Amino acid sequence: MHLSPAGTAALVARLRAAGCVFAEDEARLLAEAAATPGELEALAARRAAGEPLEHLLGAVEFCGLRIAVGAGVFVPRQRTAALVARAAGAARAARARTGRPPVAVDLCCGCGAVGRALAEAVELGELHATDVDPAALPWARRNLDPVGGTVHGGDLYAALPGRLRGRVDVLVANAPYVPTGALALLPPEARLHEPAGALDGGDDGLDVHRRIAAGAPGWLAPGGVLLAEVGEEQAPVLAAVLTRAGLRPVTWPPEEDGTTVVTGTRTGGPVPDTGPLVPVRRDGRG
Ligand SMILES: C[S@@+](CC[C@H](N)C(=O)[O-])C[C@H]1O[C@@H](n2cnc3c(N)ncnc32)[C@H](O)[C@@H]1O
Repeated sequence: MHLSPAGTAALVARLRAAGCVFAEDEARLLAEAAATPGELEALAARRAAGEPLEHLLGAVEFCGLRIAVGAGVFVPRQRTAALVARAAGAARAARARTGRPPVAVDLCCGCGAVGRALAEAVELGELHATDVDPAALPWARRNLDPVGGTVHGGDLYAALPGRLRGRVDVLVANAPYVPTGALALLPPEARLHEPAGALDGGDDGLDVHRRIAAGAPGWLAPGGVLLAEVGEEQAPVLAAVLTRAGLRPVTWPPEEDGTTVVTGTRTGGPVPDTGPLVPVRRDGRG
């Protein structure tokens, strides 16, 4: 809806007082999303009370795409574009190695942003996505249907069709990795408005990743790659976990925000060519 200059100024001031750093942008987006003054008031009140902007708008921009997301579902983070870029590199390498479009799985898919961005970047033979949270599944279907992805509800690999065993070229997992003790330090938007199951990774943050690593060799194709996003300080631990699972780990240079991508290649395959950067470590040592 159209907002007068005075109305815009008042909304910006209200959002700024509530702690919104990009108050001008948010005011414009909320006004665009509202059809009536009543709707705008409701959206502004919810935003001022701390609900994530993306939940109110029903979408987030990710890898240049408009990804649908809503209340109660993890909002894809911009940093995860690095994971997508590595996964796209692994998918291209798989295609070059096998001569066919790769099979990809987005484990712990949330609203499916990673799988969608991967499918937009690289032609895939098959794309499957899984999440244990029923609230995430409709959003994942909405985002993955247009690229032919199939969404399965359930716990990690248990949700996947058995025929994918030993056939997955790219297994990408932005799984929970916040240590339980650090959950209280998260911003309120995450702490109060995203499900704990999307964030809580257990004592050292790597509980789900250990389970993913343990199962990966059985699902990966020869030369297939598991890719995960974790904190930089968690990377050596995850690399060691991948080694113990029988995968060949690579820890990639960290992003500016202190997260990094760790990959594990099914033993016998080549080290993944997932991008132009030189890996900082090629073994499980910290
Ligand atoms: C950090 S969020 C990431 C979501 C999505 N990959 C993204 O980047 O937007 C982690 C997701 O893992 C899911 N998850 C947690 N434990 C799981 C499990 N055991 N099996 C499947 N999904 C799980 C959560 O429901 C949540 O959607």
